[in-house]
Amino acid sequence: MTVLDLDEAVGAMTAELVGLRREFHRIPELGFEEHKTSALIAEKLRALGLEPQTGVAGTGVVALIEGAHPGRTLLLRADIDGLPVDERSEVEYRSTHPNKMHACGHDSHIAMLLGAARVLIDRKHEMHGNAKLVFQPAEEGPGGAQPMIEAGVMENPHVDAAIGCHIWNNLPTGQIGVREGPILASTDQVEIVIEGSGGHGAQPQRAADAVVAAAHVVTALQTIVSRNTSPLESAVVTIGTMNGGYRHNIIADRIVMTGTVRTFDEELWRQVPGHIERIVQGVCAALGVQGTVEYTRGYPTTTNDPDMTALVREAAVAELGEEAVVYPEKTMGGEDMSYFLRAVPGCFFFVGSHNAAKGATHPHHHPSFDLDEDALPYGVRTLVASTLKYLAG
Ligand code: NI
Repeated sequence: MTVLDLDEAVGAMTAELVGLRREFHRIPELGFEEHKTSALIAEKLRALGLEPQTGVAGTGVVALIEGAHPGRTLLLRADIDGLPVDERSEVEYRSTHPNKMHACGHDSHIAMLLGAARVLIDRKHEMHGNAKLVFQPAEEGPGGAQPMIEAGVMENPHVDAAIGCHIWNNLPTGQIGVREGPILASTDQVEIVIEGSGGHGAQPQRAADAVVAAAHVVTALQTIVSRNTSPLESAVVTIGTMNGGYRHNIIADRIVMTGTVRTFDEELWRQVPGHIERIVQGVCAALGVQGTVEYTRGYPTTTNDPDMTALVREAAVAELGEEAVVYPEKTMGGEDMSYFLRAVPGCFFFVGSHNAAKGATHPHHHPSFDLDEDALPYGVRTLVASTLKYLAG
């Protein structure tokens, strides 16, 4: 199926998409506090003639576009939360909420899904089945996808597949990144506590130094990636904080470290906690201190289904042309879109938004982050084309 005149339909609404994105950009809210955001989303959906369901898993919003013909249901997901970042840029649409910012571009995800909704409503007669619009809270933490699934978003009507996208400053505007298999990593957390026995800095023989043991633990943990992981696989073990001690001349009795663990491979994901435990216990035993590990699972790996990925790629190529659709690098970032993609086959794709001429060059989560708004129509066209293709009957 070829999608015709989407260019025209979406092109005509570019100014509207930009306006929507800026409206949401001004009011960033943190996970499960997106009250203004979800109220505004619901208002926009009602203006389109839809009947949104609000308060799903707290601040989530769901709306259904029913096709003219019976068929399957495709879930279209946008995350809606901002970050605890103080926006540095002086753009006129900058955040009006101190220390909160749409520094990951989720404002654009809302705008693109609302834009897609508007086009899809006009094309209901082509749809065999339904498009279920899911505006999900708390992607940046603690995670809103799993609570929305628990709230029943995959039923009534039953969801058969899912798509979603992320605006992406790692690709230039005009490119859509589509890749099958794992594309974003699992994001686990670890806390390691080392307990020794304190003492005078000048009498180490009478103490068990937690600082020296912690230093050995951090160094030894690097062997998980270098020695326990296949050279063809990738993983990250980062210790991000290390706290303890009292003064320069006192031997510390206790050090607390926290870190993040990222993997793509399911088996490695299962093995890493055991590797950490073994290293911490071994090093601590060797140095005469006590070590405890608390390992917390975060979002699982975000993995794209081969068939749904092929469908999105074909739809994007038909709509935007071969040269616009690229095979992106995987990223060690995480996403709770992973829960939807574990529940049903689906595809999560990237919408390039890097543009040096417009200053859209900063990485996501940076206080000066901004995106090239010319990217928005590309995202909308890919969402709409993929949906119409999936619901073509
Ligand atoms: Ni994000």
